[in-house]
This record gives sequence, structure tokens and C-alpha cells, in this order.
Amino acid sequence: MIQERVKIFDTTLRDGEQAAGAGMTTPEKLEIARQLERLGVDVIEAGFAASSPGDFEAVATVAREIRGSTIASLSRAHPTDVDRAWEAIKGAAQPRIHVFLSSSDIHLMHQLRKNREEVMDMAVSMVARAKGYCEDVEFSPMDASRTEPEYLYTMLRAVIDAGATTINIPDTVGYSIPEEFARLLKDIQSNVPNIHKAVLSVHCHNDLGLGVANSMAAIQMGARQVEGCINGLGERAGNAALEEIIMSIETRKDYLGVTTNIDTTQIYRTSRLVSDITGFPIQPNKAVVGLNAFRHASGIHQDGILKERSTYEIMEPASIGWPGNALVLGKLSGRAGLRSRLEELGYHLNPEDLAQAFEGFKALADKKREVTDRDLEALMSNQRRAITEAPTYTMEHVQVSCGSHEIPTATVRLRGPDDSLTTDAATGTGPVDAIYKAINRIVEVPNTLSEYTVKSVTEGIDAIGEVTIRIQKNEGVYVGRGADTDILVASAKAYLNALNRLLSMEEAKKESATGSPNP
Ligand code: KIV
Ligand code: ZN
Repeated sequence: MIQERVKIFDTTLRDGEQAAGAGMTTPEKLEIARQLERLGVDVIEAGFAASSPGDFEAVATVAREIRGSTIASLSRAHPTDVDRAWEAIKGAAQPRIHVFLSSSDIHLMHQLRKNREEVMDMAVSMVARAKGYCEDVEFSPMDASRTEPEYLYTMLRAVIDAGATTINIPDTVGYSIPEEFARLLKDIQSNVPNIHKAVLSVHCHNDLGLGVANSMAAIQMGARQVEGCINGLGERAGNAALEEIIMSIETRKDYLGVTTNIDTTQIYRTSRLVSDITGFPIQPNKAVVGLNAFRHASGIHQDGILKERSTYEIMEPASIGWPGNALVLGKLSGRAGLRSRLEELGYHLNPEDLAQAFEGFKALADKKREVTDRDLEALMSNQRRAITEAPTYTMEHVQVSCGSHEIPTATVRLRGPDDSLTTDAATGTGPVDAIYKAINRIVEVPNTLSEYTVKSVTEGIDAIGEVTIRIQKNEGVYVGRGADTDILVASAKAYLNALNRLLSMEEAKKESATGSPNP
């Protein structure tokens, strides 16, 4: 049987980044885009070029560097947005402009404050403008699932006539129920006479936890592009989780009769990378990529698995690239052993980066007898941060004195933007507080700490501690992560990571000309 292909459209870098506190720098976005290309996604929505110079730069960089996927920029239905979107993506091998405009009366009345005719004109003229630049144009009637159907059909017909090649139906506020959403897709196909000239796409939010279910119902009703984010990241409760949609299609192709272009063995690595960069942890019981997704706790299940895996497992862990929990390396392991294990985990390093990884590995193996895959992941994530964060400040030294009868006191030495070394000390209510105050005395960027979590990467007293923090300055929330066998050192690294991100994102925002709000 020939199976029809469903295009996978990833918007982790755009709608995903709209999740509060998930801001990413351009090098981080590029790293995720490279991994999405390895995963085989058809379209990467790299950002919303007109929203800020930082976003423009990120979209343009991804467009220049990624050759294997279509690169889209989101654009409001405004002439300057469309022009900016094209400017950012014109270097892509396969560029796409994604124009969106609200279509529901609620949005027209309260947000756009325009009537239906005015909005129709904007949609048609901006799709035509985009088409003047680019053959591949997507149009999204925002809040489509709450739009009066006849108006929606008319709008879709008109934008297809104006040149839209993909029609995306967003359930913007995650309001739909699967059967109802499928019916909407069916009605669109019956009532928009030229719909066969465009690819029908869906974009479901997860406010009622139905994002994936609605997307699957739409695929069954003929949608041939599906949009979502890795790990279900996104505005509010997030977007439909792409890895769940992909594995549903893969696992139930017998029933659904469709397929994708995805290399599913890249799912695990993509999921970890997105979690690591955004600082959004993956819940243990998360479908497909959670820590427990392939763990069998009950005796009866374990018995079945030992006899025949398919008794209780519908997907093989290896099919998503799950590395297992192998104990791999130790103090005596060599560079070749490290390189080969890292490659198995999906890290392909150039000689320089491998040399740095080996240094980190040796230092870790001196402290820890057994180095597991999770330790290697933590090590690589520290190294990635050092490479991609373009650090303004780096830590040279941290020392803390604390105890039951001591006033916690920290001394830190930082290398600053001009390469100068500064040492300072502070006391605090606890050792972490003392470290952060000492760092504040040097960096002098007022902020508040809104989240601090520490967790161990593996079991055991010698485990690496991973610290995730979020700091807030004005409207901005910035994540920071650090890992070390000493959790105070990890805390200091996490704080500097967050401060460096704050400084670089503020720099990018400073030049912001338009300040367009995100959808
Ligand atoms: O949720 C939404 O409606 C969107 C559109 C911009 C596609 O993100
Ligand atoms: Zn959305």
C-alpha cells in the first residue's frame, strides 16, 4: 500500500520560544535547528523576523545554515512584516513566508477592532505580497476553530486564489474536541472549492490537553501537514508534542495509512537538547521521551517483558534513539572510547571539541568511579553552554565557607567582558545566596531569582548535580543551567549562565525597532 506522507512542521523556535522563560539565543536556535534537520522535519519555523532584530538575526542565520529543511518565518498581515520575513529567509534553500491573521469575531472585535471585509482584504493583499517574493506561502487564520465557518471558507478560498500553498488551521486557544476539529477539517474540504490546490495543515494548542488528539483526528480527516513543538513546548500549556504525533503515526501506520520523513532515532537527542537549552524539564511519565516511558515497574509486566517485549511495549526504545542506562566509561577509558560512546549518543565532535570533552571527562572520572551516559550528557551540555552562550563573564574560581556555626561566606573570581579578572566576596543567608551576592557585586545587574532547582543526574553519592535557575529582570525571564559534582559550583555556573543570557538577550532587544507583540 502506498502511504501518503504527512509533513512535519516544527515551531519550537517560534511558538515554543513563546513559552514564558524559554527564550533562546541565536547560537542555541541554530543548534536546535541543526538537530531538527537531522531529525528530518520538513519545515522549521525559525522565528518571527519582524518581532525584533534578535529574532531577525536568528531566522536569517538558520535560513543561511540549514539546507535540508524548508525555513519559515512567521509574519503578521502587515506589509513591513512580510518584507522583513522575506529579508530574513531569502537566503534559505527552501524559503517559506507564513502569514497569519485573526479570523474569529472575538479577535476581530476585541483585538483587531476591524470588520470582516477589512480583515479579508488584509489577508488577501498580504498573501499576494508574500507571493511576490516567494513561491511557498502559508496562511493561518488565527483562532480558526472559533471562527464563523462561512467566513472562514470564504477567507480560505480567497487566500488560495491569492497564492497560498499551505492552509493552516490553528486551534489557537486549544478549545476544540477531536471529533469537532475533524468535522471542521471535513467541512473545509467540502466547502472551499480550491482547497485541493493547497496542503491542509493543523496547529493545535494544548490548553485542554487535547493538542495531539486533535492533530491526529485532523490527520485522519486529510490534513497533510501537522505543526507542533518538541516536548510540547509553547505558549501557555504548549503546542501539540511533535514526538508524540510522529510516534503515533509510526506505531499505528497500519491503522492510519500515512507516514512521515522523520528519522525517529533522532527523537531522544532532540528532546534532550530542547529541554537542556530551554530549561524545561521533561516529566518522568511524559509519553515517548519521559524517563519512565520504557521502564516497567510491576512484576507482571516485567515477567511479560522478559518473555517477549511486545507483551507490554508498543515501541522499541531504540526506535527513538534511547541510549539505555549502560555503565560505560571509567578513569582508564581513553579518548577513542569516549569518542565512540559520544557518537553513539549522537554527539559528533570535531577534534578540538573532543579534546575539550576528554579533559572534562578525565576531571569527572577522577571524582566519580563510573561515568554513565547521563553523566556524559551533563558534561556535553556544560560544554555546549560554554561554546554557545558567548559568555560575557566566566568563572575562574569559587570558594565557600559555611556550616552550622558559620556565616555563609563566598569568594568568587570572574573574568569579565574585557578579559579583566575581578574578585569579590559576600555573606548570605546560605551558601548559594552568598555566591549569588558575590557575583552580583561584580556583575551589577539587578534581577530576582524566581526559580532554583537542583537534581542529581544519576543515583549515588558521587553523582553530578544539575542546577536550573530562572532569573527575572523587568518583563524578561532568563534560564540558567550548570552541572558539577559540587552543587555549589553547579549553582554558580547556573547563575552565570543565566546572567550571560540576560546580558546577550538585552543587547539584542536594545536595538529592537518595532517591538511587535508575539501572536
Ligand atoms: O496558535 C496560533 O494561532 C499561532 C498562529 C500564528 C499560527 O501560533
Ligand atoms: Zn500557536
